[in-house]
Amino acid sequence: MKIIIINGPNLNLLGKRENDIYGNETFNDFFEKLQKEYANLEISYFQSNIEGELIDKIQEVGYNYDGIILNAAAYTHTSVGIADAVKAITTPVVEVHISNTFSREDFRHKSYISPNVKGVIVGFGLQSYELALQSFLK
Ligand code: DQA
Repeated sequence: MKIIIINGPNLNLLGKRENDIYGNETFNDFFEKLQKEYANLEISYFQSNIEGELIDKIQEVGYNYDGIILNAAAYTHTSVGIADAVKAITTPVVEVHISNTFSREDFRHKSYISPNVKGVIVGFGLQSYELALQSFLK
């Protein structure tokens, strides 16, 4: 089973970014553990701060992977382009957020992506990614 995690802007700073909200662990450390724990799956990882690169990656994997775990970060709340890409593809997408976006500022309550995904997992820290992964195993 081929699953990809796609992370949007500023998520390369996990571990040193607003630790009270996003925790102390780097994504690479978390990702290595996840790969070991689910060694039977083919899990890859892509991160970009650039909207068009995220769209290119969604298009590239969107017809031949079994699942996409997408944290579009700030673009969640702004990007019609990423929303359209998610709508265009056939691979199911689970949207994740590390923080509980609904307990934060109003502008984080709106997601352009949510209407076209299989499901949304919000607010469980990095565990959100693992819960999303498990949703593809059922
Ligand atoms: C985030 C929430 C977004 O509002 C924010 O812009 C992020 C991260 C999260 O995972 O909690 O960068 O997607």
